[in-house]
This record gives sequence, C-alpha cells and structure tokens, in this order.
Amino acid sequence: MLESFDRHRRLRTTPAMRRLVQEFRYTPEDFIYPMFVQEGLHGQEEIAAMPGVYHYGLEEFRQEVLELSRLGVPSILLFGVPEEKDELSSSAYAERGIVQEAVRAAKEENPDLLVMTDVCLCQYNQAGHCGLVQDGKIVNDPSLDLLARTAVSHAAAGADVVAPSDMMDGRVAAIRAALDREGLIDTSILSYAVKYASAFYGPFREAAHSTPAFGDRKTYQMNPANVREAVRETASDLAEGADMVMVKPALSYMDVTKTIRDQFDVPVGTYNVSAEYSMVKAAAAQGWIDERAMVTEILTSFKRAGADFILSYHAKDAARWHREELGLEG
Ligand code: PBG
Repeated sequence: MLESFDRHRRLRTTPAMRRLVQEFRYTPEDFIYPMFVQEGLHGQEEIAAMPGVYHYGLEEFRQEVLELSRLGVPSILLFGVPEEKDELSSSAYAERGIVQEAVRAAKEENPDLLVMTDVCLCQYNQAGHCGLVQDGKIVNDPSLDLLARTAVSHAAAGADVVAPSDMMDGRVAAIRAALDREGLIDTSILSYAVKYASAFYGPFREAAHSTPAFGDRKTYQMNPANVREAVRETASDLAEGADMVMVKPALSYMDVTKTIRDQFDVPVGTYNVSAEYSMVKAAAAQGWIDERAMVTEILTSFKRAGADFILSYHAKDAARWHREELGLEG
C-alpha cells in the first residue's frame, strides 16, 4: 500500500542520525564569558543571585583566566567593580583602574585570550546611571567624552574589543574617533546596539553594584515592545563605526536577533543576561529542570536565531560539557 504521508521520524531514529541532520550547533568557540573583577578584593566571592558566578580579586582572576583557556573558552567580557565612585566616574578611565589592571593581567596569563571590556559609567558614579548626571538628568553629549576616555584606557591596557553598553547616542562615533586619534586602530568596537530596558538585568545590578539611585534606564535603553527601532539603532551604530553588534537580552528577544541577522551582514551576538542565567540556576537548584539539557537547548536556540557569538554566564559549564562529549577530561 502506498503511503500518503511523510516519515519524518526516519531522520530521528538514532543519535548518529539526529546529529547528522542537525541544522544548528554551537561550540565553545562561540562563547564570550562575562566576568566581574573587584578592586581591593582578596579572594573571590560568589554572587548570591548568580550561583557559580563570582567577584574576583586580581589574583583569583588570573587563575580563572588559565582555567578558561584550558576549557577552550576563547573570550571574556570584563566588568569592573571599583572601590571609589564619583560624579565624573573617574575610576572608569583611570590608568590603574580595576578593568585596566585586569586586562593587563589577562594578557599576561594568556596573550591569545580575546579580551573585551564593557564600556559604561554606571558602576563608577553614585547615581548608578550609564551616563553623566546633571540636575537629575542623564545628559547625552557630555557623557561621550567620558565614555571615549574609558574606551581608550581599556584599549591602551591591551583590550582587543571595547563594548559600549551605555546607550548614549553618538558614543560609537566618539569612541572610534578617540581610539583612532590615539593610534589604536586595531581595537574593535562591539556595540550593545540593541539594548532593551529589561527586568532581566536585576541580578547583574546586584553584582556590579550599579542599581540606579533614582529613576530607571528607560530614557536611554530601548522599549522591549519595539523591533523596528532595533534596526534604526543598529544602522546608526554601524554608520558610526561599530564592527560588531549585539542584542540584549537574549531569550525574550530572539526575533530581534533574527531580524538584525537578516538585515545586516556584520557579526551579530546575543547576550544571555543575568536573570536568564539565574532563572535556570534557581530552577535547577530546586530539582525542577535538567540544567544541562536546558542550557544546551537555550544556547542552541541562539544559533538558530542567527547569533554568531553568545555572551553567557553558562559558557564555562557548557565548555566543560563539550569537552566531556569529546571524551576529554571535564
Ligand atoms: C551596564 C550593563 C548592564 C548589563 C551589562 N552592562 C546592566 C544595565 O544596563 O542595567 C547587564 C548584564 C546582565 O544582566 O547580565 N551598563
């Protein structure tokens, strides 16, 4: 008897068959691991809302760089937690600031590690805002010089990539011009071009001590309900000189990643942010989910959405699982 339907299950019969016809996969090569370095800290402290993620003092940070290299994670994104905050966010661009020192330390431990830095002011001023605050307002243009100085100081310390996350208009142009003026022509800019004003950053703000002291970030970060605006933001940042862009957060915004992927031909990443991580960890701690299976599914779906690279706090675990699958020591 002739069959009148397709047998889709034929291609699902065995693990080898399923692997053969798999359309998307990630490898640790895709990962950028976000890390928090804290000035004046000796040792390392786990961040309460992000189990498995730590504040590192510089010495422990060095050890961690070596561990990441062993695991095959090729890249890190650095966030600093400074000892001092002031109105002008001066520890953001201090030559011996915590991020600048961490960049030097990372390069000393492994010159091949791709070192990226988050460029923003929110950890460095008491207001906890990403730009300069004057009369209770986050002022755009006066912020640009401070952001550019921050980026130059990171690049001068040896950062390969600077990643502005502040969402001030014109910052990519200001940063590119300042880098070029200093002869730092090979430093790339990964713009947080599409960054939404999201509730998914909650645990990060605890980790970075960057919760706004007043108001919120809605006058500079994007409205989660918009996608055409994401295209305009990306177009501006690319015109200003961004080499790569990212969409952030990741999970609720995979349609946005897909849109940006389809409309632009530059490398596109997605940032699997703090609460996306914490939700998985919390559910796993309760025994409600299979963490490894869920993280694998999540990371694969970012590739399906079109991400070239993935910023994720799961990167270390996922790299370890990858090694296990290859039969290497975890
Ligand atoms: C700060 C910054 C934030 C994140 C990255 N850079 C927080 C914010 O904008 O409030 C979020 C990262 C995360 O949640 O993992 N400019």
